[in-house]
Amino acid sequence: MQILKIFIISFLTFYIGNLNASEGMWLPILLEKYTIEEMQQQGFKLSVEDIYDINNASLKDAVVGLVRLNNPFHHFCSGEVISNQGLLLTNHHCGYSQIQSHSSLENDYLTNGFWAMSKEEELTNEGIGVCFLKRMEDVTSKVLANINDAMQDVYYDSIIEANIKAIEQDAVEGTHYLAKVKPFFAGNEYYLSVYEVFRDIRLVGAPPSAIGKFGGDTDNWMWPRHTGDFSMFRIYADSNNNPADISEANVPYKPLKHLNISLNGVEKGDFTMVMGYPGTTQENLPAAAVKRLTETINPIRIKVRTKGLDIMKADMNTDPEIRIKYSAKVAGMSNGWKKWIGENRGLKKLDAIDKKLALEKEFMQWVNNDNNRKEEYGTILEQYENLYHSITPYQKAATYFYETIYSLELNDLASSFYTLTEFDKTSNSEAIEKRIKALKNTVEKHFKNYNLTTDKKLFTAFIEFYYNDISNPFHPEIFELINSKFKGNIEKFVDYIFSKSMFPDHDKINAFLNRYSISKNKSLLKDPIIILYSQAINNYRTNTYPALASFKDEVANLHKKYTKGLREFQKDKTHFPDANSTFRIAYGQIDDYKPRDAVAYFHFTTLEGIIEKDNPDIYDYDVPDKLKELYNASNFGKYSNTDGIMPVCFTASNHTTGGNSGSPILNAYGQLIGINFDRNWEGTMSDIMYDPNMCRNISLDIRYVLFIVDKFAGAKHLVDEMNLIQTTKHK
Ligand code: ARG
Ligand code: GLU
Repeated sequence: MQILKIFIISFLTFYIGNLNASEGMWLPILLEKYTIEEMQQQGFKLSVEDIYDINNASLKDAVVGLVRLNNPFHHFCSGEVISNQGLLLTNHHCGYSQIQSHSSLENDYLTNGFWAMSKEEELTNEGIGVCFLKRMEDVTSKVLANINDAMQDVYYDSIIEANIKAIEQDAVEGTHYLAKVKPFFAGNEYYLSVYEVFRDIRLVGAPPSAIGKFGGDTDNWMWPRHTGDFSMFRIYADSNNNPADISEANVPYKPLKHLNISLNGVEKGDFTMVMGYPGTTQENLPAAAVKRLTETINPIRIKVRTKGLDIMKADMNTDPEIRIKYSAKVAGMSNGWKKWIGENRGLKKLDAIDKKLALEKEFMQWVNNDNNRKEEYGTILEQYENLYHSITPYQKAATYFYETIYSLELNDLASSFYTLTEFDKTSNSEAIEKRIKALKNTVEKHFKNYNLTTDKKLFTAFIEFYYNDISNPFHPEIFELINSKFKGNIEKFVDYIFSKSMFPDHDKINAFLNRYSISKNKSLLKDPIIILYSQAINNYRTNTYPALASFKDEVANLHKKYTKGLREFQKDKTHFPDANSTFRIAYGQIDDYKPRDAVAYFHFTTLEGIIEKDNPDIYDYDVPDKLKELYNASNFGKYSNTDGIMPVCFTASNHTTGGNSGSPILNAYGQLIGINFDRNWEGTMSDIMYDPNMCRNISLDIRYVLFIVDKFAGAKHLVDEMNLIQTTKHK
């Protein structure tokens, strides 16, 4: 009997363990303890030290987080070093703003691509950098030193804050490194990351958008996929190989480690590993929170953006100039919109709320079996329920606010002008001049991509949402005019705003700036867009924000407790800490999936699929002639697979999220096989709940990257910098 029981238990754990094989984003310093054995069982041929070693070069030294220098601990994308001269690979959509900022009508690098044929031609980029992880450390006991649970919240927080500050200072003293301590497991643990941040990152190459953004928003989040989503940069350092501000004196950085590149390709079932900086996941949310997200928040976002996208796309289809102006705006709005639709569908299909409720029931049974637990966790789910219930109207208002009023471009423009009202008679005239100059810049940038009729439609639609769907305590006072003056007619209200405000009119704004003196602040404050926006912001600050802020604190306390409880309850499960823009490793296999009844997908796509999609009439599918020529001539060099076919993208079961864009995807030997750039639509719920059958990350096959660089762009000198490994033979 006993033996049978042990057998069943071990079978069960094996089965469950295996089911979840690819769920998780792991910390390099916990691999030894939790995951290395399983990784090796699944085919990984290296050791923990090959991934993370603070005394010797290891794979982590070839992986970077992309940062804005004013916010160096938030990594908006990831990337990898692929040559001993600091050559860096990331996604096209990660380098998009840099590529755009170097573009002009004469040199349109977005449309035509850009390739530096020598280092002198590489282009500097203000404000961005890359960071390398030097080391990580569990500092939980140091952060929680000299505090206890009985302390008052304020006191407790301030001691933690002081402890963190001391740890961070101590960690980088006498170095040029940066340190950051972040909470993990909802604040039950704390880890320190020490980074070296390089500040001179130059653009080396990007394919034309017809390759780098092929399929556009139509194919975004989708499989099968054919997007050549890559761009190349180079890290520059001073003559001592240290980080330095942008300077002509800088030289290519000599990395501790760069990735070897495998041309051997991948088969279904092969081990893969993704390293990089995933942004946010929320795997331990209670059912009440998932319900709020799927039934209240996501539907609002989807509803507003569906309308916004319809408006912009309709205008873009009638006028190529509007297409150019609005394509980045559509891309931004559409990316979240599509993800939330996928997330909601995926959570519904998974019965995520019922699964959470079932888990909560079991959890409460376990809690109620023990008096101490009862005391600690007995009311936690009710507390969650109450909190989420009472915060609903505020969350609704906040979501509408961000999606409508806050996202309207004229409001944004007006808010930058509002800063002029800080000036008075005592203000220094140089400071005023400087501000005016900056505003002129903002105005030019704004009008470069602005179309009045499109924007007015958006303005009307968004104001209508905010007016109709949100009740009065959250309305800006100027909305009273809608009733009193315009008899509920929003279009007339918007007509009035647009005719009375200077912000829709480029000439009027220029005239205002050219003749600016502080006496003009009076008329500025009478501008209806300034009035609308400042009232809305004020309303948000007084009516919405305080409730949200205290909710955030209360929910964080509950979440810390619940996460602790769940980890005690599910003792045998290896929990991973939610993503928080720190260095992580995910592992899994090359794998396909079955999206719905009677449909099965392959795990890779080929150049043939690009040619199949070719349609010069549809912007997203207009294949460049040169690519067609290379295809027709089968001119793939050594980059095709062994059957002579050119692979493009592939899917695998690594658990990834936003921020993992540009991450290297490696084979069992730690060689680069591709660049991560997306997830499949059916799997976007993995930020909340991972499903091993459905969740796939989408990567660009490195062989397609090299083919484009070498054969399409004629930039073979870049491939020559790399270390290629090819042991398979073509048939
Ligand atoms: N879905 C990918 C990622 O979040 C790619 C986004 C860029 N591409 C696009 N077509 N908008 O974020
Ligand atoms: N495209 C995403 C990014 O920019 C990665 C896709 C995902 O969310 O997994 O990081």
